[in-house]
Amino acid sequence: MKTSLHLVLVLIVMLVVSGCNNKSQNAPGTSATTENSITSDEKGKTLFTACRACHGDKGQGMEALHAPALSHQEDWYLKRQLQNFKKGIRGFHENDVYGKQMSPFIKNLSEDDIVLLVSYISSFTHEKPVSNIQGNINNGKAVYTKLCVACHGPQGEGILAMNSPKLKGSQDWYLKQQLQNYVNGIRGTHPDDAFGSQMLPIVKQLNGSQDIDDVVTYIMSL
Ligand code: HEC
Ligand code: HEC
Repeated sequence: MKTSLHLVLVLIVMLVVSGCNNKSQNAPGTSATTENSITSDEKGKTLFTACRACHGDKGQGMEALHAPALSHQEDWYLKRQLQNFKKGIRGFHENDVYGKQMSPFIKNLSEDDIVLLVSYISSFTHEKPVSNIQGNINNGKAVYTKLCVACHGPQGEGILAMNSPKLKGSQDWYLKQQLQNYVNGIRGTHPDDAFGSQMLPIVKQLNGSQDIDDVVTYIMSL
């Protein structure tokens, strides 16, 4: 029941998105002057019409579609993930149901499009998401301090020099989903995934789904 509802939602989104694309292709751009006056921001906004149905108008994410918030994330990490989806480094695994929903929307984007999209997403303001997972925060803190802090930073702020993204500001269900994806080898196992593969030896040290819930609870408190 849940799966069929999910499929219906995804189909609706795909219809809405293809409608938007047609509209933007037919948008009037009659003279060279009009073309030149379109700013990068407007181009990024137009490109983002293909993303809104899943990631929300302000990149706030949509749990029903398993599409995460983007508005809090660093531009360098967003760019890398879009490139990863485009190259098939992410979303390649046969069991990566959610990654596969994302990939088709990136395939035809150029490098310039990716830069414009990321710059537009970076203009969004972010609201702290609500937290629903209630694990043991003390154990979560211990796990985070032992296994995560060196790369993701004391406040979950991410560390560019470690290539490690921000975790603070992500939704709890998305953090959990990604940790499970690494545990199950759905993410980080592509031979060209130099950054994702760094997560693999770490998640091996987690003590089952309880540690995952606990560390996610702690990250949400940061
Ligand atoms: C059909 C729904 C859908 C559409 C349309 C869509 N996405 Fe996604 N996107 C997802 C899902 C689902 C995920 C999570 C994949 C996973 O769990 O690994 C995702 C993941 C991402 C991520 C990775 C976030 C992270 O923290 O690693 C980025 C970046 C992203 N999408 C950007 C975009 C952009 C930009 C567009 C428009 C060009 C777009 N998406 C269109 C569903 C969608
Ligand atoms: C050795 C450094 C390192 C350590 C230690 C580490 N990570 Fe990561 N983590 C990374 C890198 C690098 C990425 C980005 C992978 C990519 O670009 O696809 C990442 C990605 C993630 C993501 C996906 C974020 C997103 O938006 O999709 C989550 C969630 C995550 N890490 C959580 C953790 C947790 C929790 C711990 C501790 C249990 C941890 N990491 C320990 C390096 C590390």
